[in-house]
Amino acid sequence: MAQDVAAGKTSFNKCLACHAIGEGAKNKVGPELNGLNGRKSGTAPDYNYSDANKNSGITWDEATFKEYIKDPKAKIPGTKMAFAGIKNETEINNLWAFLAQYDKD
Ligand code: HEM
Repeated sequence: MAQDVAAGKTSFNKCLACHAIGEGAKNKVGPELNGLNGRKSGTAPDYNYSDANKNSGITWDEATFKEYIKDPKAKIPGTKMAFAGIKNETEINNLWAFLAQYDKD
């Protein structure tokens, strides 16, 4: 499926109230999301996760992220992320393309 990074950046506006990404990104209401591709759930330094998120056993990658963001509370019951999710597959695909650009910094 073609990926549209610019559209993914726009979609990330839905996350910005709680998440930062990119150079110098800090934890906000939610953890910073740099290096998400390959990152173990619950491991952003100095972020106070719920036990549910910390102990989910998930490694974030394209497949696990796409499942999660469709319905966060289904993938991680007990998550404190107060976000209903994104249902549109094209939007999710573009959002992943945007997120996956950022390595750990
Ligand atoms: C956790 C992505 C929207 C608050 C997470 C995690 C991801 C993520 C991947 C797990 C991180 C990890 O395990 O290190 C996103 C994306 C969003 C979004 C892509 C937009 C599409 C939001 C919004 C809020 C929020 C709008 C606040 C209202 C949180 C919180 C956590 C979290 C509090 C930690 C959950 C816990 O410890 O139980 N998010 N998020 N997120 N997010 Fe979001």
